[in-house]
Amino acid sequence: MTPEPKPKKNRRAPKTPSLLRGFKDILPENSVYWRKVRDAAEKILGDYGYGEISVPILEQTALFKRTIGEHTDIVSKEMFTFTDKGNDSVTMRPEITAGIARSYIEHGMLNRPQPVKLYSFGPVFRYDRPQAGRYRQFHQLSIEVFGNYQPVSDAEVIFVSYLICKHLNLDVVIHVNSIGDAESRTEYAKLLKEYFKSKRRLLCEDCKKRLLKNTLRILDCKEAGCRDLIKDAPQLVDHIDEESKAHFVSVLEHLGESEVPYELNPYIVRGLDYYNRTAFEIFPRLEKTKTDEAKEDSSPNALGGGGRYDGLIENIGGRETGAVGMAFGLERIVELLKQSGSSAKSDKTPQIFLAQLGSDATKHAFTLFETLRQSGIRVSSNFSKEGLKAQLEQADKLGVAYAVILGQKELLDQTVIIRDMENGIQEVVDLNKISEEIKKRLKK
Ligand code: HAM
Repeated sequence: MTPEPKPKKNRRAPKTPSLLRGFKDILPENSVYWRKVRDAAEKILGDYGYGEISVPILEQTALFKRTIGEHTDIVSKEMFTFTDKGNDSVTMRPEITAGIARSYIEHGMLNRPQPVKLYSFGPVFRYDRPQAGRYRQFHQLSIEVFGNYQPVSDAEVIFVSYLICKHLNLDVVIHVNSIGDAESRTEYAKLLKEYFKSKRRLLCEDCKKRLLKNTLRILDCKEAGCRDLIKDAPQLVDHIDEESKAHFVSVLEHLGESEVPYELNPYIVRGLDYYNRTAFEIFPRLEKTKTDEAKEDSSPNALGGGGRYDGLIENIGGRETGAVGMAFGLERIVELLKQSGSSAKSDKTPQIFLAQLGSDATKHAFTLFETLRQSGIRVSSNFSKEGLKAQLEQADKLGVAYAVILGQKELLDQTVIIRDMENGIQEVVDLNKISEEIKKRLKK
């Protein structure tokens, strides 16, 4: 074995550049949960005929300005935007929908049988104020349906989102609302402005700004003072156009026919400008403790949200196209999965540990590892560790049922030792029959 380098004397360690604020590493022990979420989503989305799409992280800034909207918090405050070496303004995507819509137009997907159903996983970036469940880089699963104006599509997206949560055993409730068409929303925004104007001094600082440019977003505010005012504000559902009303009723009828647990929530207005008609958000259903009940604004973070966005494709130069979709925030889903006691064991957790002693055995251990792996046994090992004690300690930490020990003597005899990690009992078996012997024991 090559000797380890000796520690350098008087060495002043250079400072490790640290992780950026609001960014997170996903370590191997957590990847199990991420894999579970991905598997559940891919199973449900595959069954429902969705195809996977990947679009770039970096896009022209104009794409997001023209879809999400210039006056939204996302575009006005939170985008990672810079000028590239060609002097073009580019932005690290703050969501995936706009990129997928651009791709739908650029690849002529309008000429495919409609609706086109797509999904995408990936990182998104928002220069938000980091706090629990809120990051500057986070991951979304975006689910989009293009080429359909029917209420059944809205209901299907909500249903599929619910099924993904159900598959993961997450107890959720979906809050739905209708925000009508652009005209009725503009009229309603005027009404709302009038209402809040007289109460301006009672609003939080953010809402004072929203009052000028994005009045509807006040309805979404979590500040206790604002929430008190919101309760008596005129409600959007009472002011939406007749067609949107009929559309909403139909969406609710479809949902009523399904097992989706939903509630009407007149305050769901969404933080992106491209929506019309249906808007919804998914929340974990938390058992309320007494202290929670005492705290009026203990509403949890949304796990996901979405809605209909019929104007988006046209806004960026495509033909008029009905569309509806949603996105999950995957960090929040993973966190809830962990809290719900989901097991960290995966089908990749090793079943046995292969320990080797002496240089000849180490060389042969590669072949033995491959024999075991190819027979479907999940093996772990540490070829760079010399002592048996250290290797068995590692096997113990991994929680494997058996260790397979190959030493010089065993190699000569063409045998191998199987050690039961629970009681320490060791048996010598034929090297050529090792896979069968292990499988026999694992079955027990
Ligand atoms: P969104 O509501 O902005 O919608 O984001 C979707 C989800 O991403 C949220 O419900 C939340 O779970 C998660 N999320 C948002 N901000 C953060 C953050 N700073 N840290 C961690 N998680 C976060 C959209 O992005 C739309 N594109 C959804 C959509 C798809 N609408 C139609 N199609």
